Amino acid sequence: MKFDFKHKAVSATGENGSNGYGARVLVVDDNVQNVELVEALLVSKGYQVIKAYSGKEALKKVEEVLPDIILLDIIMPQMDGYEVCRRLKEKKETRFIPIVMLTALDGVDDKVRGIEAGADDFITKPFQKPELLARIKSLIKMKMLFDELENAQNVLFSLALALDYNDPYTHGHSQRVSELSARLAQYIGLPPSQQEIIRNAGILHDIGKIATDKNILHKPGALNINEYRHVKEHPVIGERICKPLKFAKPLLPIIRGHHERYNGTGYPDGLEGEDIPLGARILAIVDVYDALTSVRPYRGEIPSEVAVEVMKAEALKGYWDKELLKAFASMLKENEEELRSTSITGSTSVFREYD
Ligand SMILES: [Fe+2]
Repeated sequence: MKFDFKHKAVSATGENGSNGYGARVLVVDDNVQNVELVEALLVSKGYQVIKAYSGKEALKKVEEVLPDIILLDIIMPQMDGYEVCRRLKEKKETRFIPIVMLTALDGVDDKVRGIEAGADDFITKPFQKPELLARIKSLIKMKMLFDELENAQNVLFSLALALDYNDPYTHGHSQRVSELSARLAQYIGLPPSQQEIIRNAGILHDIGKIATDKNILHKPGALNINEYRHVKEHPVIGERICKPLKFAKPLLPIIRGHHERYNGTGYPDGLEGEDIPLGARILAIVDVYDALTSVRPYRGEIPSEVAVEVMKAEALKGYWDKELLKAFASMLKENEEELRSTSITGSTSVFREYD
């Protein structure tokens, strides 16, 4: 049977409902007979079976097919199952695919090695058919839950990016803030997990602007007090939008706090100094830098080096974490080729409160 794997995954919900049947199972074993045995059993239960006879071939098939679950032999020539498992669990795109190690080995040490490599489950050969089927079914259900979570995350990210790209003035702002904030986080030595949180918060930080009146957002010139109050609601609305999603939990204080100022004059909570979460302090600096170096309805864009000087001058008022701003300036200096070199056009003022 031949499958067109270039199509979007026949997910674990499959054609046969939510019980996992119809899902794609990659069977990896250098022993052809073993593969055929498992294939016959799974096909009879309605699964789609993809076969690989070596570790290398397995990695290739995973890339082509993105299976819903992998049954992986441990002892194979060249690349063994541990190595295949480790490589798949290291990659963002494949780390949530459940891996069951099928092995004749029964030793505790082998299981420990498998767990260290990231295996989700083990079945000892010769396997009991009902046991194998039950494990596959339950792991596919787990994968379905991950897929749902991932879909929710993607929807939210797409919404934030669409909002941004549809705005002629902020076009690409969230993505740039996300990238540059993550780079600053790395530059000051934060661990990769923190960098990732800051990267994601960067994408979502202004999602609350979905509720902001576009006429006010794009208004050239100063905002009146009511307009300003309206714009200032966006960090709290953003937090509320993201709150129901579990993955967004660590991002919430950053989204809510990205307009706080180090001297306590920011909003929504008027937090001061290190009471402002570090991620929010990072985002606040990069957010303003990107706003300065982009066109706004009330002014043109400002060259990077000028923007940094403006921010250093403003820092005297205590808006930002001075140490972070210093680190940001050195990071930019070390990457000067990436700095923009455009001139100011029609500038009236460089700041407006809602940037
Ligand atoms: Fe904002």
